[in-house]
Amino acid sequence: MHRILFPGSFDPLTVGHFDLLERASRLCDELIVAVLHNPKKQGALSPEGRAALVETAADSLPSVRVITSDALLVEVAKQQQVRVIVRGLRAAEDAAVEIQMAQLNRSLEPGLEILLLATAPQYAYISASFVREIASKGGDISAFVPASILAAVQSAYA
Ligand code: PNS
Repeated sequence: MHRILFPGSFDPLTVGHFDLLERASRLCDELIVAVLHNPKKQGALSPEGRAALVETAADSLPSVRVITSDALLVEVAKQQQVRVIVRGLRAAEDAAVEIQMAQLNRSLEPGLEILLLATAPQYAYISASFVREIASKGGDISAFVPASILAAVQSAYA
C-alpha cells in the first residue's frame, strides 16, 4: 500500500492546506495527515482540537487518516511505515526553509523522500497564522478555511 504523510501544525487547516490534502490524497492509497508540534509556534488550539477540524474537513475523503504526535517527523514516518512526505510551497520564500527541513529529515532518515507541491496560486497568500489573527479579532475568515469547519474555527479562535 502506498502511503504519504502530510505533516504540519494546521492551526487551523486552511483552504490552501485542504487543496494540498485533496491533491496528495490522489497520489497514494492512504494519506496520513499528521498534526505535529512546531516549537516555533505557540499552538492556539490543542493538537487534538486541530486534528478534529482536519477530520471534519476531510470527511468526504475516505483515504485520509488524521493523527497527532509530539514526536520528531522522522519518528512519526517510521511509526506509520511511510517513506514519502508531502509539504506545500506557497512561494519561493517557503522553499528555503522547506528544502532545509527536507535535507535535515533525509539526513536523519535517508530512506525518506520529501515531495514539495506548489500551492494553488489562488491560495498562495493565505497563512494559518494570519487566519488566527483575523479570527481572534472577529474578522471574516470565510475565504480562508473550508466551509465545513468555518463555524468551529470562528468559535475556537475567537
Ligand atoms: O505547518 P508547519 O508549522 O509549517 O509545520 C512544521 C512541522 C510541524 C512539520 C515541523 O515543525 C515538524 O516537523 N515538527 C515535528 C518535530 C520535528 O521533526 N522537527 C524537526 C524538523 S527538521
